[in-house]
Amino acid sequence: MQGRGPISLLLILILIIIVISNTMNIETRNFDKDAASWDENPARVKLAQDVAHAISNQIVLTPRMRVMDFGCGTGLLTLQMQPLVNAITAVDSSKGMLDMLRAKLAKLKLTNVSATLIDPDNYNTMAGCYDLVVSNMTLHHIREIKPLMAQFHKITASAGHLCITDLDLDEGQFHHDNTGVFHFGFSRPALRRTFAEAGFEDIQDTKAAEVVKPAKNGEMRRFIVFLMTGHKTK
Ligand SMILES: C[S@@+](CC[C@H](N)C(=O)[O-])C[C@H]1O[C@@H](n2cnc3c(N)ncnc32)[C@H](O)[C@@H]1O
Repeated sequence: MQGRGPISLLLILILIIIVISNTMNIETRNFDKDAASWDENPARVKLAQDVAHAISNQIVLTPRMRVMDFGCGTGLLTLQMQPLVNAITAVDSSKGMLDMLRAKLAKLKLTNVSATLIDPDNYNTMAGCYDLVVSNMTLHHIREIKPLMAQFHKITASAGHLCITDLDLDEGQFHHDNTGVFHFGFSRPALRRTFAEAGFEDIQDTKAAEVVKPAKNGEMRRFIVFLMTGHKTK
């Protein structure tokens, strides 16, 4: 009977790992391979328009504002906001996504947007001072959101704002492949607490948009995208 204890423990550990990896993927998603066709999905284009509209309803956008778009992708939200502000630093960890954005910037001859590749494992490399930090549909791809929120607070100017748009809790039904999805949507009260812990104040949340599409289980479903805003007062 001796020696059975460690073996049982190992089996239990393996079982736990299998269960966890089946419910929530632990790999990151390779966005490079999706970049070329990203904008072909009209729902993504509409979502960026709705989100830009929701942000401008909540925050007064001015021609002096310096903005960061975190997880900008091909710049769907960046390009909606660019005419309304002074400059946008669009950052992403996918070179493929940024190449698509750079091609658009060249075509449109836009000089107030810069596309910057960032290291997803070291947010401290994210520098600058921004009146507004926005991020659309990226937070659910971030394994540990607390260090990122702290970094957002650090790079937000005094009197600046953070605007996050992402999914309400979706039970893993929004993405048909959950590779690189570390959060199956967010509980707004829990995310409010994370905003507050990072130092943001006057936290508000509202519905920004909805996406109606077949869920992972095949049924048509309405997914709600919220906008959460926080203010840095000091
Ligand atoms: C679902 S896409 C959203 C893109 C864009 N915001 C939009 O609305 O179309 C998520 C984006 O976040 C980027 N991303 C994922 N993890 C990241 C990380 N750790 N740091 C920076 N960007 C990340 C991906 O490369 C991808 O472009």
